[in-house]
Amino acid sequence: MVKIKKTVEELDPYVPGRSNADLARVYGLDPADIIRMGSNENPLGPSSLAIQAINKNLHLINTYPESNIDDLKDQIASYAGVNPNEVIVGGDGADEILDVLAKTLIEPGDEYIVHPPSYMYYEFTFSVYGAVPVYARWDVEGNCLDVDSVLEAITPKTKVVFLCTPNNPTGGLIAKKDIKTILESTDALVVVDEAYWEFSGVNNLELLEEYDNLFILRTFSKVMGLAGMRIGYGIGQKEFIEYMHRVKPVFSLIKLSYIAASATLSDPEYIKESTRLSIDSREFLYDEMSKFPELKVFKSFANYILVDIRNTGMNSKKITVKLMENGIIVRDCSSFRGLDDYWIRVSVATMEEDIKFINVLKSILG
Ligand SMILES: Cc1ncc(COP(=O)(O)O)c(C=O)c1O
Repeated sequence: MVKIKKTVEELDPYVPGRSNADLARVYGLDPADIIRMGSNENPLGPSSLAIQAINKNLHLINTYPESNIDDLKDQIASYAGVNPNEVIVGGDGADEILDVLAKTLIEPGDEYIVHPPSYMYYEFTFSVYGAVPVYARWDVEGNCLDVDSVLEAITPKTKVVFLCTPNNPTGGLIAKKDIKTILESTDALVVVDEAYWEFSGVNNLELLEEYDNLFILRTFSKVMGLAGMRIGYGIGQKEFIEYMHRVKPVFSLIKLSYIAASATLSDPEYIKESTRLSIDSREFLYDEMSKFPELKVFKSFANYILVDIRNTGMNSKKITVKLMENGIIVRDCSSFRGLDDYWIRVSVATMEEDIKFINVLKSILG
């Protein structure tokens, strides 16, 4: 066996949400009957314009992807209200943008700050490059960032500070004034992850004019309904984006993804309907789950809800298995740093699926 690099040898594997095919095999279910409430996807399905565009371009898959995606950058820039040269688009979702950030910035031994519980992929990617995590704290009970814990974690070695708003998996927002305080307290790049911003109606783009150490991370996987096409984007200072382009894999954004993203952005009605459906589902699930005395349900500004299940007498593994036996996937949060074995995250679904989920929950909790 060849000598593997130390950071990879020591890497904890990332635990993604489970696929329908996987569950169908294990629990003897029909994949078509499985209700997906585990991966924060879009229950509306993709935009019909995206499907049409993909179908129209299928015959082109023998050719390399576009190297010039200026028209998509223009569309993203106008959706976000920024300049096209402040945009970088990734072909393995926002996760690829995270990898490109690490490639652009990290020397082994550099520090980065995360606030567990939060999105685990930051640590997964950055640790491979020899970056050292420094842990700030998300106050789960108050569902807010412990800003002082971030300020205390900043050292001269800090290269990146990750702020996730709405935070995954808790659903809470970070106040703009707190983001400003952090931006003013460090020269490090502050990455504000807005993967779910559309469900909250709040974003932090205007801070880009004031702070040159701000970077905003976004995705087409959530409100845009394209998780399977793997498209993400980042918005930052023009010069910084140019450096990122030097190390970004040239062909990672495939043609079908590129045109699907473009078609979705040209379908504002779809984006509006996606947002509405997800918010309606979230509020319905919040109200219905709150009726179970044994569940502690957290208010969310995203398309998922964190639930403390310790008073059910089950741990997260047990309750997720019981739900899976009934064809429903929710996220067992035990792999999230900062949460113990008694948390699940429930993603929004269609109203019909929500009702089925609540009924299954009733039967499980008795
Ligand atoms: C907070 C957050 N950021 C980024 C991502 C990555 O999104 P993607 O790689 O699908 O674009 C996710 C995915 O679930 C997420 O929850």
